[in-house]
Amino acid sequence: MSDIWSYANPQLKDLVAYEPGKPIDEVARELGLEPGEIVKLASNENPLGPSPKAVEAMRAALEHAEIYPDGGGYRLRQAIAAKFGMEMGNVVLGNGSNEIIEFVGHAFLKPGDEVITAQHAFVVYKLMATLFGATTVEVADPGFKHDLEAMAAAVTPRTREIFIANPNNPTGTLCGQEEIDRFMAKVPDHVIVIFDEAYYEFLDEPLDTLKYVREGRNVVVMRTFSKIQGLAGLRIGYGLAPKHLAEVLQKTRQPFNANALAQAGALAGLGDDEHIERTKAVNREGRDYLQRTFGELGLDYIPSHANFVLVKTGDGDDLFQYALRRGVILRAMRSYQLPEWTRVSVGTMVQNEKFVRVLRDWLGGRVA
Ligand SMILES: Cc1ncc(COP(=O)(O)O)c(C=O)c1O
Repeated sequence: MSDIWSYANPQLKDLVAYEPGKPIDEVARELGLEPGEIVKLASNENPLGPSPKAVEAMRAALEHAEIYPDGGGYRLRQAIAAKFGMEMGNVVLGNGSNEIIEFVGHAFLKPGDEVITAQHAFVVYKLMATLFGATTVEVADPGFKHDLEAMAAAVTPRTREIFIANPNNPTGTLCGQEEIDRFMAKVPDHVIVIFDEAYYEFLDEPLDTLKYVREGRNVVVMRTFSKIQGLAGLRIGYGLAPKHLAEVLQKTRQPFNANALAQAGALAGLGDDEHIERTKAVNREGRDYLQRTFGELGLDYIPSHANFVLVKTGDGDDLFQYALRRGVILRAMRSYQLPEWTRVSVGTMVQNEKFVRVLRDWLGGRVA
């Protein structure tokens, strides 16, 4: 039999599949636990679940599951545009915001192009760059924070995209407005800047990158319903871009990439400010508790602007396995070249306290 790689796209050979948080059902199956006993703090999900309004809207939409979704996403795109004082033509829906990363790749990348990211940025940017045969230029991020000046300095004639994850996953770090403005003043037109704002709604202070969309710069701002909206299972996110750029992205989309339940749930969730405020409050309390506890335990951690914390536990793989057996799913960071670190999502206080008990026991066992 001939070698499949003699005719498959060669760049795929180096492509490593994305390693998601371990699913609750899988852990239950493997360890003989009840799914209800397991706490998942591995994928930065909303521990309160979706807005009750979103659930109600999805139930109603379920009754009409025989009908294809609105391929143009009219109602949801209108609502998103209205929320930001934009027009529907500025909004592109994605099957999760991850799909927007792929759209930008389809639209702008070809083999030999360069994509600039921070060294510890969300890994999907690199996976997508590889998929399209582009080279990822990873710029050092001292203190785990994007160095925007160095990223702007890394631009060459071959650069097509720069990703700014703000706040970044897995580090939780944030670039401020002034840094962003200085950076944007330097970036040339042939480079598409993608601000990935998956955790934007958790920020305490506003940050404005949408002004660059309004100014017509070659910018895509990505947001998602997976995090604060608690709709990760639906796969729905969006990009905001100037019309000339959004039109290009629309051409890369499958006809019904945003499903009908997702559109209905997202639309209802968008209008539920109360749920968002409640989620923010739970997150603030839980994040403070986790960070305080890490401090008391003498563990280094990166102060977070999002709904998770990166903490230097030592041997993240071992802690991951230990916690798993105790029914807590964490995220080891070896795939980010951070084997000594663990990322933990902020849960409810009951979940956070369970995690801390497990962490203390693990640390105790290591000292003994
Ligand atoms: C920084 C960042 N961007 C994008 C995503 C993708 O989210 P989704 O595809 O669920 O919208 C995630 C998910 O963890 C993320 O952390």
